[in-house]
Amino acid sequence: MNEMSPPTAERAAALKGLGSERKRVEDARFTQGKGNYVDDLKLPGMLFGDFVRSPYAHARIKSIDAEAAKALPGVVAVLTAEDLAPLGLHWMPTLAGDKQMVLADGKVLFQGQEVAFVVAEDRYIAADAVELIEVDYEELPVVTDPFKAQADDAPVLREDLDGNMEGAHGPRRHHNHIFTWEQGDKEATDTVIGSADVVAEEMIYYHRTHPCPLETCGCVASMDKVNGKLTVHGTFQAPHAVRTVASLISGIAEHNIRIISPDIGGGFGNKVGVYPGYICSIVASIVTGVPVKWVEDRMDNLMATAFARDYWMQGKIAATKDGKITGLWCHVTADHGAFDACADPTKFPAGFFNICTGSYDIPTAYLAVDGVYTNKAPGGVAYRCSFRVTEAAYFIERMIEVLAIKLGMDAAELRAKNFIKADQFPYRSALGWEYDSGNYQPAWDKALKAVGYDDLRKEQAERVEAFKRGETRKLLGIGLTFFTEIVGAGPVKNCDILGLGMFDSCEIRIHPTGSAIARLGTISQGQGHATTFAQILASETGIPADDITIEEGDTDTAPYGLGTYGSRSTPVAGAATAMAGRKIRAKAQMIAAYLLEVHDDDVEWDVDRFVVKGAPERFKTMKEIAFASYNQAIPGVEPGLEAVSYYDPPNMTYPFGAYICVMEIDADTGEWSIRQFYALDDCGTRINPMIIEGQVHGGVTEALAIAMGQEIAYDEIGNVKTGTLMDFFIPTAWETPHYTTDHTVTPSPHHPIGAKGVGESPNVGGVPAFSNAVHDAFRPFGLVQAHMPHDHWRIWKIAHDLGL
Ligand code: CDP
Repeated sequence: MNEMSPPTAERAAALKGLGSERKRVEDARFTQGKGNYVDDLKLPGMLFGDFVRSPYAHARIKSIDAEAAKALPGVVAVLTAEDLAPLGLHWMPTLAGDKQMVLADGKVLFQGQEVAFVVAEDRYIAADAVELIEVDYEELPVVTDPFKAQADDAPVLREDLDGNMEGAHGPRRHHNHIFTWEQGDKEATDTVIGSADVVAEEMIYYHRTHPCPLETCGCVASMDKVNGKLTVHGTFQAPHAVRTVASLISGIAEHNIRIISPDIGGGFGNKVGVYPGYICSIVASIVTGVPVKWVEDRMDNLMATAFARDYWMQGKIAATKDGKITGLWCHVTADHGAFDACADPTKFPAGFFNICTGSYDIPTAYLAVDGVYTNKAPGGVAYRCSFRVTEAAYFIERMIEVLAIKLGMDAAELRAKNFIKADQFPYRSALGWEYDSGNYQPAWDKALKAVGYDDLRKEQAERVEAFKRGETRKLLGIGLTFFTEIVGAGPVKNCDILGLGMFDSCEIRIHPTGSAIARLGTISQGQGHATTFAQILASETGIPADDITIEEGDTDTAPYGLGTYGSRSTPVAGAATAMAGRKIRAKAQMIAAYLLEVHDDDVEWDVDRFVVKGAPERFKTMKEIAFASYNQAIPGVEPGLEAVSYYDPPNMTYPFGAYICVMEIDADTGEWSIRQFYALDDCGTRINPMIIEGQVHGGVTEALAIAMGQEIAYDEIGNVKTGTLMDFFIPTAWETPHYTTDHTVTPSPHHPIGAKGVGESPNVGGVPAFSNAVHDAFRPFGLVQAHMPHDHWRIWKIAHDLGL
């Protein structure tokens, strides 16, 4: 007979499991300056690296003179491509099947490209030595426009590929062409568009921008020559993949490489790829025998590490007169910069852009993407989005607005008319995806009601009249968006990176006293994994979340996983966590039944214990079971309580949302202010509503930045015009408006706890909401399409060009 215990609801609340607004356990150390970032690491004898970077976007290197730098006291070494070549490390493979120079090999292809690596006793000496290195450049013609790059007489950028017309993703048809990727039915789409009642056509540009995490990229490489072990601490979003790639590139056996991602100050896709700084630091540590630290400064990060977007999207959308969409055609010119270093699953050179039919039941569609080389930095990463999904969502949400104008129809009504209906799920799109679940109409109705949509439209019409009468210079824009994301890469049958299947993992050990440690193949960069993954486990195992340590990021201890980006942690590693928790519970059930001297089937789970059916006073708690597993194992059953799960999801998850932005615009100055921003997200089962709200606030703020000012801009000779935070827009509290968040819950049918990812939804939905608000303010005066970012000058220009 057990003692009286608290009632079920009280015990469940004490677990702080699924659905609990558990406070972030990480924040105690972050708010007290106790975080442990790469640049906090100080190892004995550590040296510091810095790069000589190219001032030119395209130039031949005639000579490099490092004598003066080498003579500077405190300088230990200067590496150039010539030093790396004998090791085969002057070039490295990219994630996209291309190769990239580690240090400039004969020529440079973008401004900021790494030319030489200086290693010195302190960071300042390294920077001084960089200034002393003389590089003799011969300037070459520059091409920054992806359309001009495809002209017959365009300069050959990649001389290493000249004559090689077979790329990693099929044939290349021009010296600056990378690949063509086609999806859908071209012929059928041409037919539908050719015979449609109405066709709207537009070029939608999603400008080049940059993830710009607060902490830049960096590493500390440490080669222990005595035991042959290489340890690299770094800002890695995918530590295991980095270990495998490092082993393949360096020839060091994988078990002798330890990759550790400590605390990471934001990633947003910027920290997925492998950068020359990592390779050079490793080589320098091997050569010098001491640890070498390399941490970029802000300008290095903005100019040279992975960019995002830069997609020119030509679209045609066909519909009947009453607004039923019948077909979608899209051609993308994708500017990949100097090397194809996009971080996409191998079979998807344009990521998941083929989700561009969005939330709509579009029966026929065709997509072609052409990747092109230009004299810009490489990258093409998923900046807080799942592999080009934000480009796709922006494209379709702009095309819907353009079509609404052509039809003379309200854009909210046009969306509703074309939604995939609840009973069509699972839904197979014309471009090949199977959407797992969705219920769009109730979410849309809720959003429109929450903002008072009909009244807003009336107010807007009155404002237009007042503007025409000269009584106001302020316009009102209502930015509508309904988006569907695709997150959780992914099923191994579809998704791999360099041949590594995109599963993920969790390993759990329950200690004798009933607390636990769980290790995962993912790595948090601020998303709060230590808080939320413990909540999943609490609900699955009955161990309070406060008694569970979550550990990620150390390849010597964590099970193999593909890391964190593309909102994949919850759909994949979260599922692995639930499955490993279930294995623990299955063994716990056997132990409980044994201890209670009943058959396994005669006990049932009750929050944190197994209870004998029909005898609620007879039970064993998880705490008791854990202890018993260490000293009183069932005969023939292994002692201990541990489990591991490698989870290969059967499908992606498809979160969705309805975002509405109400914006005031001053036609005289181009200044904007956000009057209202409403964000409804449906990410299935909600693990921690407070963390979800935080994700939405952060993501919408990044969307605000991208839509309203953030840009990596180049001049015609390839100079980066926005290489510092003076020019690259990062919103502060001053520009950030209030957000109203809301939700519906449509669980994923295949995820063990029904959860979908959420981290990137607010960026995917936020950008078109802000941009559509700008467009909508000028729509009554004839504006159809204007390119982002909508900074004050560009908005003023719209007003000016419309004669306002
Ligand atoms: O992969 P990443 O961590 O960037 O994105 P995510 O899987 O969408 O998760 C972001 C954060 O939101 C994590 O702390 C998740 O556990 C949490 N989340 C949640 O509480 N409920 C969901 N349905 C989805 C995510």
